[in-house]
Amino acid sequence: MPAISATAPGKIILFGEHAVVYGYPAIAVPVSGVRAKAIIMARPMAPQDSVLIDAPDIDLKTDLYDLPHEHAFARLLTALQDHLNIDYFPAFHLKVTSTIPIASGMGSGAAIAAAMVRAAGTFLGRPLSDEEVALLTYESEKAFHGTPSGIDNTVIGYTKPVWFVRGQPVEFPHIATPFTLVIANSGIHASTADVVSAVRVMHDADPARVNDLFTQIGSIAEDAAKALQDGDVAALGPLMLENHQLLAQLNVSLPELDYLVDAAMNAGALGAKLSGAGCGGNVITLVRPDDAHNVAEALLDSGAVETIITHIASTEDF
Ligand code: PMV
Repeated sequence: MPAISATAPGKIILFGEHAVVYGYPAIAVPVSGVRAKAIIMARPMAPQDSVLIDAPDIDLKTDLYDLPHEHAFARLLTALQDHLNIDYFPAFHLKVTSTIPIASGMGSGAAIAAAMVRAAGTFLGRPLSDEEVALLTYESEKAFHGTPSGIDNTVIGYTKPVWFVRGQPVEFPHIATPFTLVIANSGIHASTADVVSAVRVMHDADPARVNDLFTQIGSIAEDAAKALQDGDVAALGPLMLENHQLLAQLNVSLPELDYLVDAAMNAGALGAKLSGAGCGGNVITLVRPDDAHNVAEALLDSGAVETIITHIASTEDF
């Protein structure tokens, strides 16, 4: 049997992170220039149920059954087994690699899971729908933090821009005009679980104030969806800056991230904000396509360890 492979893109959250955990809307888009890839090969000579997982990027080579139950890969493959109602896996070798920066808000964990489960479904003769990939990927996301909103697995499972409200059916926003982003990795690694729980502590200490911040973030996401629909790319820039300020009030920015936002604006960006959990990770900047390289240079000069230029297509092209 030939090898089966599947890939999944990275992602960024355009608007609404953190508030999305509490039921407010958020918008995320896939970043297809960076991807996770899973390759599955049958092991005809190995006993059934012997699943060898090989993830060189994280130095992991193990039998599935030697992983703790709570491990993201164990959760994922157990969820797949339950979902497909199969008692055991035929023996296979599963290799996963990824070009998505790890722990930087680009959904590397969700993309690895999505690629794995998509490849495994096909290998088992049960190709999965996007919805199934998104649902199963959610199971592995729970290993990273207890209360994932579901936005990462959804945008990566469907591989198109999403308008996401926790607990509601996913919607796909209309994007009338393509736009260009420069994503700058600060090189500072932060645990999503830790940042989400710090926000939870702040929320529980002063729910009125923090809910007010979330409400403002939610209404920025609504304004942004309208701007995307109208093709009003220029309107997105100020909304990004406002969203960044609100995230800073949630204590999830850092001086290094604020500095990257300022550097991008000084280099001619139309808007900039941190993206994802914060306290490190990425800053995303909206640019005119011709300015992308200048802004990327300015970000690298200001401490970013890596930049990615990505073009978000209009909805017709997804
Ligand atoms: O995994 P990250 O860094 O993209 O952050 C996830 C976004 C949060 O809103 C902070 C958490 C969540 O579950 O949506």
